[in-house]
Amino acid sequence: MPEPIVSVRALTVRFGGLVAVKAVSFDVAPREIFGVIGPNGAGKTTLFSCLAGAQRPTSGSIHLRGESLDGLAVWAVAHRGLVRTHQIVRPFREMTVADNVAIGARFGRGRRRGADEKGRVRDILARTGLGARAGSLAGTLTLGELKRLEIARALATEPDVLCLDEIMGGLNPAEINAAMVLVRELRDQGLTILLIEHHVHAVVGVSDRILVLNFGERIAEGRPEEVLRDPAVVAAYFGDAPEEAAL
Ligand SMILES: Nc1ncnc2c1ncn2[C@@H]1O[C@H](COP(=O)(O)OP(=O)(O)O)[C@@H](O)[C@H]1O
Ligand SMILES: [Mg+2]
Repeated sequence: MPEPIVSVRALTVRFGGLVAVKAVSFDVAPREIFGVIGPNGAGKTTLFSCLAGAQRPTSGSIHLRGESLDGLAVWAVAHRGLVRTHQIVRPFREMTVADNVAIGARFGRGRRRGADEKGRVRDILARTGLGARAGSLAGTLTLGELKRLEIARALATEPDVLCLDEIMGGLNPAEINAAMVLVRELRDQGLTILLIEHHVHAVVGVSDRILVLNFGERIAEGRPEEVLRDPAVVAAYFGDAPEEAAL
């Protein structure tokens, strides 16, 4: 692997007696699409919260381009180029789509203002397929559009690394395909993508490598077709709840 852009070592998160993430280690290469899968409660969202600076790990380390993120707040991590989207989308519903994105552009790395900000917002809305909805109130968007707005808000901070938490959850098959196309386009534009996804066919179709978590532990990591054949994955993930895997 080239010099990794993200390095996670022995990351552990305890919530009282529960160990949500257990000594997880992995590297992500620049411009990689790195999928993270695992049953509900596996620790996927907690892992992303740690990456983004929203959750303090109990132990372990996270490095971005070789620099430790230890102790940094969400805004400080975003300024270094890593942002995440939320599984439960939380736009400002009473504001327009464009204004929701403008907030990210204003507080992001570029600190855009005025005409520069407007152009940047227009560009991001076009990239995320929301151009026609720029003037709509966020509260009027469909779930598929809300997931795109969540991505657009993250892009407005001008990240190098984008962590997407279940952007395909609740979407119909056409919307899922469109989301997969968007993820590939974002990578082609130079971003590194970490992708938590419940829809296994989608994550397999789009990821270069996949990490599988189960009860907080890494049970497999590798190319999608290898990981899906791994007996530990079959037993722990698909064996338990095949209908949940959304194959
Ligand atoms: N803030 C928290 N306090 C206590 N327990 C939590 C908290 N966040 C997550 N958990 C627990 O940690 C485990 C992993 O949760 P989560 O990271 O959301 O899993 P996933 O995203 O893989 O479904 C679950 O058992 C969950 O209930
Ligand atoms: Mg989750």
